[in-house]
Amino acid sequence: MLALVAGLWAGLTQAEEATPLPAPLEMGSRLNSAATDIRVIEPHLSVKQPTAVTYRGWPAKAVLDSVLGKGWRAKGVDVEVRALDGYVSRIPNQRFERYQAYFVSEIVGQSLFEVDNLEQNEKRIPLGPWYLVWDNTQSAALQAEGGTYWPYQAAQVRISTERQKALMPPRLAVSWQSASELTHQHCLSCHRANGFGGDKKPIDLAEVVRGMRQNEFTRWVLSPSRIKPDTTMPALQPRLDPAARERSAREIYRYLRALSAATDGTKH
Ligand code: HEC
Repeated sequence: MLALVAGLWAGLTQAEEATPLPAPLEMGSRLNSAATDIRVIEPHLSVKQPTAVTYRGWPAKAVLDSVLGKGWRAKGVDVEVRALDGYVSRIPNQRFERYQAYFVSEIVGQSLFEVDNLEQNEKRIPLGPWYLVWDNTQSAALQAEGGTYWPYQAAQVRISTERQKALMPPRLAVSWQSASELTHQHCLSCHRANGFGGDKKPIDLAEVVRGMRQNEFTRWVLSPSRIKPDTTMPALQPRLDPAARERSAREIYRYLRALSAATDGTKH
């Protein structure tokens, strides 16, 4: 009994705490494999035209298995990547099954490990110790996403279950799963939904949509600056075509309404 409790407890605390990624010099011996070269369309450099960079590192799934054990592969779990400056990126785990990701620690043929961020007008951002990159050369969809899910200065990883609990509560139909991920990806780094999300503008979208009609909502998220010229809220998926953007905006609205209904009365 005691052993069982101790085992459970170890499992729980392991899931709660972030685990440091090994130093780049140790990764090869830890995984017992040499680094591979991976050529990607670098989203931070590809604002005007696609620009390729070749990085060197190890497949993310092998790194995660080694650092976190197999628990990160459980259903509905996010891989949380923590950067040196406290930036937190939560990545739905199925993404690592759908696309190939790599933790990289150098640029092939260069002594410096840094990149310019053309979109945010920043130069020579240090990328180390680890930068998570995605094999996007064959995927227009991945390229259209830009730098979402490409955390740099990554130092620690953690298994995170908070998203699924908050965004897919028991009373919400499972068919909302992909809409919940869309909303998470594009809105919840700044806003919250059912209490979960970011702190940049911590309004709860599931509550906000109760007072908004669909048209009003889609007009705002598709071009916030047209309604409020000085706003810092970015437009939704600016690189996609108008019909696809409209579909995304409506899907997010309907999901937030459903989430609102599913959690009504269960809070406060
Ligand atoms: C980078 C941060 C950021 C992201 C990402 C973001 N927003 Fe915003 N949002 C803001 C800020 C800041 C405001 C406040 C608007 C202002 O006054 O400039 C805002 C305002 C809003 C409002 C208006 C609330 C009101 O008071 O009327 C809604 C609704 C909203 N956002 C929905 C969304 C949705 C839906 C998404 C995802 C598609 C999203 N936001 C993504 C930063 C963000």
